[in-house]
Amino acid sequence: MSFDLVLFGGTGDLAWRKLMPALFQAFRHGSLPEHGRIIGVARDDLGDAAYRELIRSRFNEVDLAKRPTPAEFDRFAALLHFVRMDLSRPQDFQRLAATLRERHADTVVMYLATAPSLFTTAVQQLAAAGLNRPNTRIVLEKPLGHDLASNRAINETVRSALSEKQIFRIDHYLGKPAVQNLFALRFGNALFEPLWRRENIANIQITIAEDLGVAKRGAFYDNTGALRDMVQNHALQLLCAIGMEPPINAHADAIRDEKLKVLRSLKPWTTQALDGDVIRGQYTAGTVAGESVHGYRDEPGVNPQSSTETFVALRTEIANWRWAGVPFYIRTGKRLAGRDARIVVNFRPAPHAIFHSPSGSVNRLVINLQPRDGLELHLLAQAQDNRQRTRAPVQSLTPVHLDLDFEKRFGSERVGAYERLLLDVIDGRLNLFVRSDEQEEAWRWVEPVMEHWRNQGAGPRPYAAGSWGPSAASAMIARDGHCWSEEC
Ligand code: BG6
Repeated sequence: MSFDLVLFGGTGDLAWRKLMPALFQAFRHGSLPEHGRIIGVARDDLGDAAYRELIRSRFNEVDLAKRPTPAEFDRFAALLHFVRMDLSRPQDFQRLAATLRERHADTVVMYLATAPSLFTTAVQQLAAAGLNRPNTRIVLEKPLGHDLASNRAINETVRSALSEKQIFRIDHYLGKPAVQNLFALRFGNALFEPLWRRENIANIQITIAEDLGVAKRGAFYDNTGALRDMVQNHALQLLCAIGMEPPINAHADAIRDEKLKVLRSLKPWTTQALDGDVIRGQYTAGTVAGESVHGYRDEPGVNPQSSTETFVALRTEIANWRWAGVPFYIRTGKRLAGRDARIVVNFRPAPHAIFHSPSGSVNRLVINLQPRDGLELHLLAQAQDNRQRTRAPVQSLTPVHLDLDFEKRFGSERVGAYERLLLDVIDGRLNLFVRSDEQEEAWRWVEPVMEHWRNQGAGPRPYAAGSWGPSAASAMIARDGHCWSEEC
């Protein structure tokens, strides 16, 4: 099978940080189809040779284990090509069409790793140049639009040019091995499913903490913020994976139908909930991993008076029979205490205590996404150590946990998120991609929050870089009698 992968935004941040390394890993492991070209597209004045050199130099910033040797890069570089294009110029699309005609590849992937504001123009121009053929697949990066209306406008344009099965809306969190293992845990094992409901579960916490700031993306981020950048997509997709009903099979639409139902069941916002159940924050200067770092407003590209949030914590519920009344907490932010993404399922305490248990200890299932992926099951056990030799009338229990580290179990050479998803696009597998109705529903749900913030005088709450965010996030969860998993 042959493929051409056209990478719009071919010199951009995403291309060199995530996509090129992922394509190289697929190439190194022999999983890229043999006859392929990767065609970078951007406005820069480059030819194939200069583009290859640029990518070679960028690989120096990639983790050592994932960096190509010179010989490996030379072989990979033979796949790389460059077409200079201005997306507003029809003649540039004709040039791209001519480049694609040189090969007549079996599959042509158009990957839009550009600002979302360019999606509509790019798709219209592709269609006008006749590049929306049956063998074309288009990949759209998130955030798709800025709100519900712009999301719909993009989706309508894309659907007028291509059929739904040609459209791959990427959310790279769905490609993470831990998320696929969450599906495996829930729907490949019978153990947890009977427990997976309001009768047994006290609350669920989804945390995506980053220690990084906005790096070189200040200008983009300042117009976006954590709600649009992380909650509307990654966090809600995780919430769907944890809260959905078992799909009838593993086909793309069966999975997407169930995720959609979760999004439709999210409790609608009330004024009271908008005031008390959503906390937004913005980092100030602080220390992360022993290094002093700037506050958000001092980052390059960021407005010095910016009121963009770099942190969000919120409480919601899935209003259906399985989950009614169970709080789902979502928390994400930049420049937090560490890089730490996990889903914590806190079970209800034993209904009647016959042992002494340390206060606050509960059975807990932790799905770790990063920095390492794995599962932890927290239990209480009898330690049977010297302390137990006393003749205390009631025995004390000690917290212990079972630990499954997927890297130790399956090795560190596993397929990364972007590698998995890029291979799925080339092979035409849609299971791990988001359908337009899911996206629209997610925008519909976050819009009242965006509107509330627009109308609210007070901006985000400051938090020091290197902390866990504003203390109000802990106060919010404490109101329910719960605490974030690192606090208790
Ligand atoms: C991206 C966001 O979608 O996800 C970034 O735009 C964020 O702001 C990134 O840093 C986090 O991804 P990961 O895989 O590093 O957790």
